[in-house]
Amino acid sequence: MTSGGDAAGMNPAVLCAAEQAAKSGMKPYLIYEGLRGLIDDEIYEATKERTKGMLYTGGTLLRSARSTRFFEEKYRQQAFDNLQKRNINKLIVIGGDGSFNALNQFYNDFQVPFAGIPATIDNDIPGTDYCLGVDTCQNMIRTSIDSIRDTANSFNRAFVIETMGRHCGYLAMTTALTCGAEICLVPEIPYDLDSIAKRLKNEVANGRKSLIAIAAEGVRMSDHLTRWINDTLNMDARLTVLGHIQRGGSPTVYDRIMAFKFATAAVESLKAGHTNKIMTFREGQIGTESIDYVAGQKPVVPELILDLCRSLSH
Ligand code: F6P
Repeated sequence: MTSGGDAAGMNPAVLCAAEQAAKSGMKPYLIYEGLRGLIDDEIYEATKERTKGMLYTGGTLLRSARSTRFFEEKYRQQAFDNLQKRNINKLIVIGGDGSFNALNQFYNDFQVPFAGIPATIDNDIPGTDYCLGVDTCQNMIRTSIDSIRDTANSFNRAFVIETMGRHCGYLAMTTALTCGAEICLVPEIPYDLDSIAKRLKNEVANGRKSLIAIAAEGVRMSDHLTRWINDTLNMDARLTVLGHIQRGGSPTVYDRIMAFKFATAAVESLKAGHTNKIMTFREGQIGTESIDYVAGQKPVVPELILDLCRSLSH
């Protein structure tokens, strides 16, 4: 099942998990619409018909939904009954830490083992350097920033571009650095508009023709920053909020390969008898981490990225 915000790479992960499970002699099923589908019995055999197109389609063909009913024991019991009548005795959930915690509660209730695959464009799941969907999203943002720079250069304009990432500036930082932005505001780094003004006023006076500022949605500064650039740096400034375009799109090669790696590891984890592990990717290696560790930690942005970005916040 997929759960929480959709992310590119979810579909290839579902496809690969179903294929690997079948190869291991298991009978794979698909649960549609996340936790809601688990409660409402939207569970079907993973036939070739149902997994068709999953290799290259963005979003999640299994769809996703947020369900508060899963917090209630009677609905978790209903979900367990749905699994029992089909002899389903293991789950793979592709999503974020909220979904993992829900499945862990389900494990504590009914001892149904699960393996979690981290997937969110925010890249903010503790214990893993990478979550499915991030690369596709970064490339979507890169394409957008490159296009905006073309028009910014043509009109001597400044653009503030707001990226997603609920509480995490990873998307903003990595794309600001790789697209050559002049300003980057993220929740992880205290910013200083006065020192940004000092740094850029001279450049504007000396003929700077365009300016790109990236603001993570979590800092809630996009409107203010646009007006500030207009008034303080005397540049005609516009705001582009990228929004949900960042979540869609066909998964990149990297996200497809990562989907295969995570999905294969998830099937292996269940075969090995693990009961509630989260798949991770750390220092280039696929591994697993306990749900307790993932639930108890804060996401970490690599120090190098933070260091490089500090000069764009001052
Ligand atoms: O968690 C992924 C994410 O895309 C965040 O970056 C964003 O803040 C949020 O989901 C948007 O949620 P929704 O699709 O419910 O508006």
